[in-house]
Amino acid sequence: MIRFVTACVIVTLAALVGSHEHEHVADSQEPFVGWTKEDLDAKWGTDWGFSGISTFAHLPHVRCLQHPEEEYDIAVLGAPFDTAVTYRPGARFGPRAIRAASARQTTMRGYNPRAGLNPYREWAKMLDCGDIPITPFDNALAMRQMSEAFANLAHSTATKENRESPVAYRRTPKLLTLGGDHSIALPTLRALNSIYGNVAVVHFDAHLDTWHPAKYPSAWIDPDDAAQQSFFTHGTMFWLAHNESLIMKDKSVHAGLRTRLSGIEDNEDDDAQGWIRFTTDDIDDLGFATMAKRIVEHVGTETPVYLSIDIDVIDPGLAPGTGTPEPGGWTTRELIRVLRGIESLNVVGADIVEVSPSYDGAGEVTALAAAQVGFEVLSSMVKRGMGDGAEKKGKAGGVRDEL
Ligand SMILES: *[C@@H]1O[C@H](CO)[C@@H](O)[C@H](O)[C@H]1NC(C)=O
Repeated sequence: MIRFVTACVIVTLAALVGSHEHEHVADSQEPFVGWTKEDLDAKWGTDWGFSGISTFAHLPHVRCLQHPEEEYDIAVLGAPFDTAVTYRPGARFGPRAIRAASARQTTMRGYNPRAGLNPYREWAKMLDCGDIPITPFDNALAMRQMSEAFANLAHSTATKENRESPVAYRRTPKLLTLGGDHSIALPTLRALNSIYGNVAVVHFDAHLDTWHPAKYPSAWIDPDDAAQQSFFTHGTMFWLAHNESLIMKDKSVHAGLRTRLSGIEDNEDDDAQGWIRFTTDDIDDLGFATMAKRIVEHVGTETPVYLSIDIDVIDPGLAPGTGTPEPGGWTTRELIRVLRGIESLNVVGADIVEVSPSYDGAGEVTALAAAQVGFEVLSSMVKRGMGDGAEKKGKAGGVRDEL
């Protein structure tokens, strides 16, 4: 009886919709007989925001490190690591939280009006490559694991079509890493250097992260031994990157700075490492458009850029789920507007770090901000790869929201 009623309902629904495909649903007693892959994709291949296994924006999940044959243009990769933090731990849960918070980003409704494109439907094949299984017990080993993982993925072959693309940007796969604490930027920079040579870093953060590793409250550190494990922290990785000559001098930028310093000499050290700085207050004094313009002018639009976004650049009122919160920061909207303003940069790799969900609110406000930032970064990467002129206009088709 129940079966009969169900069959009637299905037949009635099919009749109401009246399409050939739906008639199939009614008499599919042998569900997989005669169905093509396209049929099955059409029937079962979509997710609601609330359904599906959690990957970033419902992207297909492949464990790329185990599948070097897999082709992609942009890999989203989790680096669940937090044993190099100076204050609250917990960012190892960041990748999971950001993926969960990205659930309402779907291919179907992914059009970004400001960029004039849907990043999930353009030229770029994107995958969620899962997480690097990083040890929480041994930071020297963790560093080796991350360095090897990032290098393997960054060197992976892009699709053949894209390797032959006239648009240079498309020829090498791009990485978007979800942290994890900020120290993960060091192994990523090593990987990018092995492809591009030195890269510029565009760094959004409340903190400098160029601190000398001996500038922490411990007399046990030998300031002259850069190989010490205690040199590797989430506040010193750019100092180490400079020490390893990974960062392009006089092209790198911090923005959103506001933390206390040990003294003005911290800024002088930062100058010596070749950075320029925009403070949190500069967004009021200059306006976001001028700030974005100055960043682009300083870096240049051809320079390969590593875009590193510490979620603590946002005010802890709007992004409390982070390890070293600093009151008085930007709004989520201000960060996103600056990111839109720098979309012409040649971003070859990016990270979103320091999301620590145990300090987040019940509404996942920090993880949501990080997921949205991820969407904007992916939109700009895809837009950059659209090339110039007619191709861009024709394919993207949108009206650009200029500064
Ligand atoms: C790297 O750090 C070590 C230890 O502090 C120092 O001796 C060396 O000169 C540094 N190298 C560069 C290129 O900064």
